[in-house]
Amino acid sequence: HKSAAKTVDEINRDRLFHLRRACESTNNGGKYTIESSFYIHVKNESLLYCLVFKSGTTTWFYNINRWAGISEDTILDHKTDNFMLARMKYPWENPRVLLTSMKNTYSFIVVRDPFERLISAYEERLLGQLHPYFTNLSHQIYTRYHDDGNLFGIPSFQDFARYVVDQFRNEKPSDLHWRPINDLCTPCLARYDSIIKMETFARDVEHLANRTNLHGKIKPVQMNHSRRDSVDTLIEKYFSQLTKQQFDDLYDIYRIDFELFQYSSDKYSQFVKETT
Ligand SMILES: *[C@@H]1O[C@H](CO)[C@@H](O)[C@H](O)[C@H]1NC(C)=O
Ligand SMILES: *[C@@H]1O[C@H](CO)[C@@H](O)[C@H](O)[C@H]1NC(C)=O
Ligand SMILES: *[C@@H]1O[C@H](CO)[C@@H](O)[C@H](O)[C@H]1NC(C)=O
Ligand SMILES: *[C@@H]1O[C@H](CO)[C@@H](O)[C@H](O)[C@H]1NC(C)=O
Repeated sequence: HKSAAKTVDEINRDRLFHLRRACESTNNGGKYTIESSFYIHVKNESLLYCLVFKSGTTTWFYNINRWAGISEDTILDHKTDNFMLARMKYPWENPRVLLTSMKNTYSFIVVRDPFERLISAYEERLLGQLHPYFTNLSHQIYTRYHDDGNLFGIPSFQDFARYVVDQFRNEKPSDLHWRPINDLCTPCLARYDSIIKMETFARDVEHLANRTNLHGKIKPVQMNHSRRDSVDTLIEKYFSQLTKQQFDDLYDIYRIDFELFQYSSDKYSQFVKETT
């Protein structure tokens, strides 16, 4: 029986095809050398993962660290740096070795709508205040844009957006949780077998498991956020704080991510303030 709906395999092939075309039209996303820091080569499973923070890393850190024999308690302890743990078990590969690995393994990336990722980073890191480092950063961002003497203010989304743009303009490295995917994984210089999207995560992971030897070996894990508002409510709440200029400046930073992975900024731009 052949249905009109595309299979997950066809959808994946469309994503890979689109990525190749978008890479051509953006000059490889403006990149010349592969960024290898965020790739994890799981040799035992012949799997190569490029991790995008705020995009499915909870599930993948859980599984790759479990496969390496690390206890569940350690992995789920919020004080654990799972990236560092994974790096001890799966050593960094230099760019030349990495490119060879890509040819011989099942290679994948997990992506997400760029501005949903940004909202998630803002809420978890700056509002959530779970880590002393981010509590401090949160107050610093507030004092940078407010002259009211409050040293413990919480930045609005607009403050955060201005900060992201200012850091970018000043060529300061951006935090991994909101660094563009194009800068984290240089997808135009990589070779992937799967592009997994957060929006269709369970289905895409099942497809990856079907294509590898990982059936029954991938456990989905979710962070338990106490988020009250729906994504649509948050989009309106946050993007209505931005002026047209602020929105355009922010979009410029993430434009290539939008293009490479077929996301649209329309659902955000509709809320932006018309006047400044
Ligand atoms: C890979 O498999 C070998 C043999 O089973 C095991 O000794 C080793 O710990 C595994 N390595 C990782 C990183 O899981
Ligand atoms: C916050 O960060 C600033 C700048 O990095 C640093 O000077 C300051 O000591 C930090 N404060 C705390 C409480 O960690
Ligand atoms: C995975 O394989 C199973 C069994 O062959 C199949 O029923 C299922 O549709 C596949 N899922 C995906 C997402 O490819
Ligand atoms: C989230 O909550 C569920 C159900 O209470 C639990 O099984 C799971 O381990 C929790 N996830 C994390 C990452 O703590």
